[in-house]
Amino acid sequence: MTQLQPAPHQASAGSTDAKSTTNASNALYGGKGTRRITVRDITAAKERGEKWPMLTAYDAMTASVFDEAGIPVMLVGDSAGNCHLGYETTVPVTLDEMTMLSAAVVRGTSRALIVGDLPFGSYQEGPVQALRSATLLVKEAGVGAVKLEGGERSHRQIELLVESGIPVMAHIGLTPQSVNSMGYRVQGRGEEAAQQLLRDAKSVQDAGAFAVVLELVPAELAAEVTRVLHIPTVGIGAGAETDAQVLVWTDMLGLTGGRMPKFVKQYANLREVMGNAAKAFAEDVTGGTFPAEEHSVH
Ligand code: KIV
Repeated sequence: MTQLQPAPHQASAGSTDAKSTTNASNALYGGKGTRRITVRDITAAKERGEKWPMLTAYDAMTASVFDEAGIPVMLVGDSAGNCHLGYETTVPVTLDEMTMLSAAVVRGTSRALIVGDLPFGSYQEGPVQALRSATLLVKEAGVGAVKLEGGERSHRQIELLVESGIPVMAHIGLTPQSVNSMGYRVQGRGEEAAQQLLRDAKSVQDAGAFAVVLELVPAELAAEVTRVLHIPTVGIGAGAETDAQVLVWTDMLGLTGGRMPKFVKQYANLREVMGNAAKAFAEDVTGGTFPAEEHSVH
């Protein structure tokens, strides 16, 4: 399927030729380090074959919970559009909104690497527009890296950002900002589409991206991309072989309503918990049992 060769320095978790080994102090998840994680730590994790988790976050309080839980990388995704701001898609999200949300997540965390998403319309004009937008997220929000969508088509943008000192996480496969032309369909099915995905992956790596999100691509193809790249792959709906996995937090914790995509694993049902708590509060108020004596001051 692929024309690319495996990355020469790639080693699996248990292999003896790994450049370094994961131990209690340097692990991205479960490590003892308290300083903020950088893209150099992410690169080192790939070299030693360590898998890592990434979650989205859109506010300081939720981000602080995930930071305390040891999640090493948080994405202030433009999925905030659907999951936080009430839009139908990610398309309407603005750079000002992403800057405000990213700043809140940075303030709520002390250890995680915070990646801020460049929203639709903030980098498609070309590298200079991308640099202006990314600079805002780095300077005003304080993110440690930015993410943008597109493979070969975003090569020049990634190159200029990286040359300018801004680490970039790329995003290929299903790119939700292109929903109006692409829909929400599995990408990379069939030989031609698989070859294009491989070219996109190679292109973002060559441009200097430190990691690449693979969204909704066949597991076998994602495994192939992970094997041939020397930068980490972050899967969402891309099978088990990617170096990292990301989920949208409101999906993962069962806050998002409606039908979930097949790739989501729901670890809690916050929608039910919160709904039940709101009803219990309402019943206490209407029934006169809240506030009780212990909630009153005299
Ligand atoms: O915006 C987002 O949350 C994303 C993830 C789904 C990778 O791009």
